[in-house]
Amino acid sequence: MTDSWWKKAVVYQIYPRSFADSDGDGMGDLRGIVGHLDYLAELGVDVLWLSPIYPSPQDDNGYDISDYQNIEPLFGDLEVFDELLAGAHARGMKLIMDLVVNHSSDEHQWFAESRSSKDNPKRDWYWWRPARDGMEPGTPGAEPTNWGSVFGGPAWKYDEKTGEYYLHLFSTKQPDLNWENPEVRQAVYAMMRWWLDRGVDGFRMDVINMISKVIGEDGSLRDGRLSAGAAYADGSDSFIGGPRLHEFLQEMHREVFAGREGLLTVGETPGVTVEQARLHTDPERHEVDMVFQFDHVWVDRGPDPWLLMPLQLTNLKAIFGRWQAGLADLGWNSLYWNNHDQPRAVSRYGDDSKQYRVASAKMLGTVLHLHRGTPYIYQGEELGMTNYPFAGIEDFRDIEALGQYRQALDMEGRSPDEVLTVLRARGRDNARTPMQWDGSPHAGFTTGTPWLAVNPNHTEINAAAAQADADSVFHWYRKLIELRHTEPAVVDGDFTMLLPNDERLYAFTRRLGGTELLVIGNFTGEPVVADLDLDGDLILNNLPEAPVDATIAPWQAVVYRRSV
Ligand code: NOJ
Repeated sequence: MTDSWWKKAVVYQIYPRSFADSDGDGMGDLRGIVGHLDYLAELGVDVLWLSPIYPSPQDDNGYDISDYQNIEPLFGDLEVFDELLAGAHARGMKLIMDLVVNHSSDEHQWFAESRSSKDNPKRDWYWWRPARDGMEPGTPGAEPTNWGSVFGGPAWKYDEKTGEYYLHLFSTKQPDLNWENPEVRQAVYAMMRWWLDRGVDGFRMDVINMISKVIGEDGSLRDGRLSAGAAYADGSDSFIGGPRLHEFLQEMHREVFAGREGLLTVGETPGVTVEQARLHTDPERHEVDMVFQFDHVWVDRGPDPWLLMPLQLTNLKAIFGRWQAGLADLGWNSLYWNNHDQPRAVSRYGDDSKQYRVASAKMLGTVLHLHRGTPYIYQGEELGMTNYPFAGIEDFRDIEALGQYRQALDMEGRSPDEVLTVLRARGRDNARTPMQWDGSPHAGFTTGTPWLAVNPNHTEINAAAAQADADSVFHWYRKLIELRHTEPAVVDGDFTMLLPNDERLYAFTRRLGGTELLVIGNFTGEPVVADLDLDGDLILNNLPEAPVDATIAPWQAVVYRRSV
């Protein structure tokens, strides 16, 4: 399949719990999404990606799935789902699902069977291991390896029923599926085909580069590196980009995607390198169309997880420059600032003050969308939604924030203040506060009590106000999307990074045939003189005045088109 329609496409991510509530229970739902399809069509996006909507105990907001072939009752049912899919298709938008198969819920029937006895036929569908040699099962330190789980605590849970541990890289309610077992893989592929037959247009694959684990000859998993002050080790050497990952993805492609057209597959791959991404996205290898890399969202993290590092623009540019160059002749990039796991970009890399929020949100959008790759917009990004003013830990709902907070305070000697400072800046709930539709109480998200508080700034920052204002971030994103649809250099042009050592300006060109686009973004609140020739037609400018004498105003973004 060489059909790469998605190079011209822009994807919009919906986090259903927080998008729109149609029945007043405080939780977004599918009918709420149906009610806003015209809004998404007006924005002009090509693809909708839904975060998980399957039945789930909601331990990790749906990333813990207890039935892969149905709809969570809080969100609706298969009938509304079909209506949503038809409504998206009728408006020319595709729809992709979240595929969460590194792990299931512990309430999935598969796990219930697996847990029931050591000789159950599904025992081997998950990672069961005995206690560490010579240790009493169930006692601290007796876990089969020293790995920490992403959400705090050990990555193993002792199960008294059979006296063994199961692996959960995320919460205790998210046991890892054992992809070594061919029956597991076939069950997953059958489920995927069922959704494609229903009409969905592809999948975003949750932590898909963790499905293959490094296993010793005796079947054991090995300890990870323990860094100073940490309660548990980092086991990622044993499960990121594991030995059979490419094989599994190629098998999945053969079993699920071969012979089908018009689909999109994107792998979420924390820690992926450019070299691995080339292998994953080389069309000849038939793995996935594109991956989400994480380097640019880890740029403000240092070795100490509880210390905020200021953004260094030269680092950010080096990262993007490396990815653009690395996938220039082979494979494809995905581009994102935001998703449901990241803080709001305008608060993180821009300036969310009254004075500069709109300009900096537009600047960030411009720089991202003009790169080579498929841009992803996360709900509310097109409004310039900001981080939430969390007072204390009681304001957070996210299992990651709560788990890491407890581990840091109880086991690692951290103070509430230092942990909260980082959670306020980077916590995932920043992205998950309800979508701000209008200035009414609860922002038009729900008539009930929202499951997570609405940002008080919704009286000012909301979709209704943005739609009515021709200068809003919303209308700017419409222009960016339209430019990708109409200007071939945005899609296929070569990328060249300019001014790599400049700490304030982000500048690059895209060139296709005789057309060159020059893109400049000012990442500061000061005017900066660009050491560049600003000639050509100014086709985008996020401020009223064009640059004079190459002076780029605070948070300004400009795009020039010229013949070369
Ligand atoms: C990545 C998802 O994006 C995140 O929200 C989730 O918590 C983990 N994977 C576990 O599924």
